[in-house]
Amino acid sequence: MELVVASDHAGFILKNLVVSHLMAKGWIVKDLGVDHPRDKADYPDYALPLARSVAAGEYEMGILVCGTGTGMALAANRVIGARAANCPNEYLARMARAHNNANILTLGQRVLGDGLALGIVDTFLATPFDGGRHQARLDKIYLDKINIDQIP
Ligand code: RB5
Repeated sequence: MELVVASDHAGFILKNLVVSHLMAKGWIVKDLGVDHPRDKADYPDYALPLARSVAAGEYEMGILVCGTGTGMALAANRVIGARAANCPNEYLARMARAHNNANILTLGQRVLGDGLALGIVDTFLATPFDGGRHQARLDKIYLDKINIDQIP
């Protein structure tokens, strides 16, 4: 499977570690940058193009890394069709997929050790969406699935 990754300067090292880890496992990984840790970057400039490519169906999944994971999630979730979850542990990564059908994982390089971060990535990518009642709940909040006039 193919996925897309990006980071700002504060997520560069972990982003590259994630890329190496996934390529060694046979994933095809599109890296949208940054290309150097000295490239000071604003996280929206990386989160929004990645979120748009996932929402457009160019990639099934995306991974964004910044210092905390928070800015990337805030920015990515502005894109309709993007469901980004900042997951600091494997339980939340599993639930973000199983219950929330998250299609973008965000990580914080300043928060996570390497082993934990790669475990979160593997868990996120290996967990299927449970569907059913969880899809019905998602349909209540995603404007691409509902008529805007139905919002209370
Ligand atoms: C950059 O200093 C930092 O603010 C950014 O990487 C991210 O953590 C924002 O949420």
